[in-house]
Amino acid sequence: MQTTVWRIHVAEPGWEDGEAIREAAALLRNGELVAFPTETVYGLGADATNDDAVGRIFTAKGRPADNPLIVHVADKGQLSAVVAEVSEVARRLIDRFWPGPLTLVLPHRGTVSARVTCGLPTVAVRMPAHPVARALIAAAGVPVAAPSANRSGKPSPTTAAHVLADLAGRIAGVVDGGPTSVGVESTVLDLTTPVPTILRPGGVTQEELAAVVGEVALDPALVREGEVPRSPGIKYTHYAPAGEMTLVAGAPEVAARHIQRLADEAARRGERVGILTTEDGRHRYRGPHVVVACGRRDDLASVAAALYAALRRFDQEGVTRIYAETFPEEGIGAALMNRLRKAAGGRIVSGDLV
Ligand code: TXA
Ligand code: MG
Repeated sequence: MQTTVWRIHVAEPGWEDGEAIREAAALLRNGELVAFPTETVYGLGADATNDDAVGRIFTAKGRPADNPLIVHVADKGQLSAVVAEVSEVARRLIDRFWPGPLTLVLPHRGTVSARVTCGLPTVAVRMPAHPVARALIAAAGVPVAAPSANRSGKPSPTTAAHVLADLAGRIAGVVDGGPTSVGVESTVLDLTTPVPTILRPGGVTQEELAAVVGEVALDPALVREGEVPRSPGIKYTHYAPAGEMTLVAGAPEVAARHIQRLADEAARRGERVGILTTEDGRHRYRGPHVVVACGRRDDLASVAAALYAALRRFDQEGVTRIYAETFPEEGIGAALMNRLRKAAGGRIVSGDLV
């Protein structure tokens, strides 16, 4: 299959009903797969009401069939066509955070394919803030199921080039709207529990949610090892680079000394070593290692935005061993550290012990 790429510049007037959006929307309506930018990561879209179209998502990604998808809507009208009821709490969250990186788990009304929900009584739904995403969904006229547009087990794509690296030839098209801004996936919040529960930390922080709804719980699986996650997809290892990754905790200067030593030792054993740091920290490292600077430490949003591209860089460089600095778990830092822990398969050592 030939994958069409449409480039959209949102600064150029008239793109909303231009040829790119019209062609991409027509493909979606015809049951084909089209990747598109959201403010978090690129999504791989299919008509959520079409069983065959949704089935193609799982095939193209190599995604396990028991991992449900997020349904993307362009407006509140489409929301009521998907969910059974919008509770008072849901309404307050929607008024405050939509469009934006917040996914709500709500009871569905049986209108989307059971392949989207994996047979659950609930559906995860969000209204993305990216203008290209909303224009495309509106033009398609159907709710759009869209997981991240990567092959299963790869980091989520934050550029159209990442999408093509994973899925060229396997999907009908990619709408290229430039790099995404948030860089990590949306927050998934379950509203079917007595207390709203974060299943996946993301672009909207726990602090921000609590300010609107009061108490917000964290899924125990986010806090303790060994708990069975409530969000079906969380049990799978996502975001893993090919090289084995270890997080080195501790203050940046101290962690850097420890990382330098571990890196030098691994290189002597014949490993090709990658180091994940920030622009302000890269001067601390010496030697032949692949040092990737990811944003600035004083701006955790910039680190989150650059994270997945950094992980892909390590793969491109053929790195076999990665050591990464860690970050404070405040605000977007919680989502950032959640993704880093996953990428590291939970391997974390203390840099303070040296
Ligand atoms: O930012 C994002 O959310 C991106 C962009 C493309 O919108 N999408 C995304 O989709 O990250 P995906 O499929 O990679 O992650 C969906 C997450 C999974 O962890 C899945 O288990 C959870 O949402 N999920 C979906 N439906 C659910 C449901 N009914 N109950 C609980 N969790 C659900
Ligand atoms: Mg994903």
